[in-house]
Amino acid sequence: MSVPVTGSRARIAFIGAGGNARSHMRDVLQDPKAELVGICDTSAQALADAAARLPEAASVPTFTDYRELIEKARPDGVVISIPHTLHYEAAAYALEHGVSAQVEKPLTCTPGDARKLIALRERTGLVLTVGYQRHYQGAWRWVHENVAGGRFGPVHFVETWQCQNWGGGGWRGVPELSGGGQLNDSGSHLCDMMLWASGVRPTEVFAFQENRGIKVDRISAIAFRFPDAGVGTMAIIGDSVRGMDEGMQFWCRDGRVRIDGMERKLRITLYTPDGAGHEVPAQESADYPSNKDANFIRCLLGEETPQATAEDGLAVAAFTEAVYRSVATNAPASVDW
Ligand SMILES: NC(=O)c1ccc[n+]([C@@H]2O[C@H](COP(=O)([O-])OP(=O)(O)OC[C@H]3O[C@@H](n4cnc5c(N)ncnc54)[C@H](O)[C@@H]3O)[C@@H](O)[C@H]2O)c1
Repeated sequence: MSVPVTGSRARIAFIGAGGNARSHMRDVLQDPKAELVGICDTSAQALADAAARLPEAASVPTFTDYRELIEKARPDGVVISIPHTLHYEAAAYALEHGVSAQVEKPLTCTPGDARKLIALRERTGLVLTVGYQRHYQGAWRWVHENVAGGRFGPVHFVETWQCQNWGGGGWRGVPELSGGGQLNDSGSHLCDMMLWASGVRPTEVFAFQENRGIKVDRISAIAFRFPDAGVGTMAIIGDSVRGMDEGMQFWCRDGRVRIDGMERKLRITLYTPDGAGHEVPAQESADYPSNKDANFIRCLLGEETPQATAEDGLAVAAFTEAVYRSVATNAPASVDW
């Protein structure tokens, strides 16, 4: 990959200035290797809120059209944090105009669009990353390196679950903007971890979903099978009591690995063939990028490689699309890898 930036600081702009973007603006503002050069949102209120909450960003030029942002602010990279079905068009526009992109999850709402973005990345040599922050957390990295890495032999069963008091409010409840419900929102992280941490690639899924009074899925019960006689389950409970929680277990030939909790409260237990459970200390390591914004910035400078890749985004889009197809047809659906 060629290096998109020749200077010592990457020029970063935001497409979308809502709740999620604001916390990432803070990361960019504090990063000595980055300069925040523009903020775009179609809502004047969102731009005003960002300026009010982040006084350091108040003098950064603002725009209501990302095409104008790209033309006038001339960023090296954009962070795209807008409703899901709009991700593809904004990312494609950025890459086509010589600008790298970190796209929030899900990368795209169809595997076909993810493949088109990967082709654009290949053609342009620009950076394309996805906003999956679990790739930067020590515990998840340990599971990825050891389970997907094959230390315990092949995986033959995967169990995954996530719960949240998720209401599907605002654009999240509008299928034309969200591209789906909780499976495509917080559930996108669960799909990503199931695929990235285990390395399995389900070939077939069968799913039930319920919307529970809104226009998109709130709860999902998903079963899947993967090569070499493996099967797994995924439960997404979007109408839980307050708070968010998740967990996963991987049954492998030589051990069982269980990971529970969120962020700093993540716990890993390794069960060995004698049946004993051992807590695994999963400390953060200085050997890998600390967070997704720092990683994106350093990818632009040629100092690091993407830790949450467009291929990860494609894998999630392929799995998610198969789940929705299974629900729509009430039949097993093959995954379009
Ligand atoms: N990685 C995470 O843990 C995490 C957490 C929360 C949200 N997200 C993701 O961030 C994205 C945004 O979610 P949010 O919670 O910030 O939503 P939000 O509603 O708070 O913000 C979205 C913003 O996008 C703006 N917008 C809509 N269309 C636009 C366009 N064409 N150009 C520019 N701006 C436009 C809206 O006006 C709004 O201000 C979603 O992809 C979501 O899944 C990720």
